[in-house]
Amino acid sequence: MKYKIAFIGAGKMAEGILSAITDKSSVIMAEKVAERAAGMKKRYGVSVTSDPALAAKSARIVFLAVRPQDVDGVAAVVKPVLGATQVLVSIVAGKTLAKLRKAFGAKARLVRVMPNLALRANAGMCAICASPNAKKADVAAVEKILGGAGRTVLLAERHFDAVTALSGSGPAYFAYMAKAMADAGAALGLPKSVALLLSEQTMFGTAKFLLESEMPLEPFIDGVCTKGGTTFAGMEHLAPSDFRDVVAATLSAAAKRSKELA
Ligand SMILES: NC(=O)c1ccc[n+]([C@@H]2O[C@H](COP(=O)([O-])OP(=O)(O)OC[C@H]3O[C@@H](n4cnc5c(N)ncnc54)[C@H](OP(=O)(O)O)[C@@H]3O)[C@@H](O)[C@H]2O)c1
Repeated sequence: MKYKIAFIGAGKMAEGILSAITDKSSVIMAEKVAERAAGMKKRYGVSVTSDPALAAKSARIVFLAVRPQDVDGVAAVVKPVLGATQVLVSIVAGKTLAKLRKAFGAKARLVRVMPNLALRANAGMCAICASPNAKKADVAAVEKILGGAGRTVLLAERHFDAVTALSGSGPAYFAYMAKAMADAGAALGLPKSVALLLSEQTMFGTAKFLLESEMPLEPFIDGVCTKGGTTFAGMEHLAPSDFRDVVAATLSAAAKRSKELA
């Protein structure tokens, strides 16, 4: 095989994963949009093609990175060329291993991943599960690639709709929260750009501190909320609100949609 890694679909997520691969010359990408393919070649020095079958048959690890509605079309051309030594890694939201097995054949060595867009900042969160056909070494190879672009967790597939709702879709929800905080800051008189910086850097720094310190969230919140202080005054408004219900309903809707996409 000429390449180590192939991507079918060279969109946002494929680009995020690619950023973590050091040897870009070991990568081939199949992409329908010619300008996008040309851009990937120019920016990263990867090989490109418009033919998913050509990419799939020339690499040991094949990432399926198209949208859910495009999977069947890709499977029709890729299934006949997938060999027993290759691993197919799907990052497609909602598509279960059972559905993928149906589309790509019972022998396919399948690994399913739910990534998120933070891969693009090398701070992604990827959940990984594998079909019984996949070997331990396949999973380890996928963990190694994705580990270069953030954190990974091995998880039973039954949790994937919840993962999709929380970390898969999460970047949009956190960005929504950051925008709400920035808008509220601007309403208090801050210049818009400063309000946005304050909001985003505070979100980033809080997450970084929590991850690095491994401090549980409740004592952290209590520690910031000194009785009678400013955070306390804000929290007295936030805590009794329906904020938690809204967050729960948001994730429920996303998980439901993930199930429907299967
Ligand atoms: N974006 C996220 O936050 C996120 C998070 C977790 C998982 N995912 C999953 O990741 C997958 C990719 O998402 P994305 O956001 O990267 O999508 P995207 O930016 O739309 O990229 C997909 C690319 O694949 C191309 N494509 C479609 N059919 C093709 C074919 N037969 N051969 C070659 N290229 C083809 C598309 O071209 P056209 O535009 O012309 O169709 C598009 O350029 C999706 O299945 C999604 O569920 C995404």
